[in-house]
Amino acid sequence: MKTFKVAVLISGNGSNLQALIDNFMKEESIIDINCVISNKQNAFGLERAEKASIDNHFIDHTKFDNREDFDQRLIKILEGYSPDLIVLAGFMRILSKVFVDKYIGRLINIHPSLLPKYPGLETHKKVIENEDSYHGVTVHYVDKTLDGGPICAQSEIEVTTKDVNKLEEQIHKIEHEIYPLVIKQIADGKMAFKEGKVIKK
Ligand code: GRF
Repeated sequence: MKTFKVAVLISGNGSNLQALIDNFMKEESIIDINCVISNKQNAFGLERAEKASIDNHFIDHTKFDNREDFDQRLIKILEGYSPDLIVLAGFMRILSKVFVDKYIGRLINIHPSLLPKYPGLETHKKVIENEDSYHGVTVHYVDKTLDGGPICAQSEIEVTTKDVNKLEEQIHKIEHEIYPLVIKQIADGKMAFKEGKVIKK
């Protein structure tokens, strides 16, 4: 039975969303992705959601005077779906305090670096420029810091290329493995957020 409701926020291609759809949209999974929201109208992820028959919404952030008003609109839509977990999957907006406070402990993100190394953008480029030997991904709970919340899991690869696109492709591959795993652990009650920390049971 589908008992654990997940909402996914995106801004773009949605390859991580696709990995979640492929893993969870089966009868035997308890996870129900019941809502996808994008702040970009042309996000390919919206088409992926539509194809998987998942309710999807576009909210144009440029139509709001400030971050809080946009986030209030997001909250309004999300509340219609009673999410147990909100999953950021390439959502390119910084969320306001209002949003983070409301969903703290039920809000996770995937970031393409081995945090705390390289918060922010262009992580693959930075890894190559700095000639790092290792690169990876981090899944973390979102708190008020940028890419700094408590870490659920990380996965790493050896850097064997100087081609940013190739490295990005390799990173995507491990993202698509680790994100469903973490979400399943949370849904199964094997991982949780407590007093600012990640608890594994
Ligand atoms: C991923 O690399 C993710 O780590 C970052 O944004 C990218 C989204 O890719 N937060 P996609 O839209 O899921 O293909």
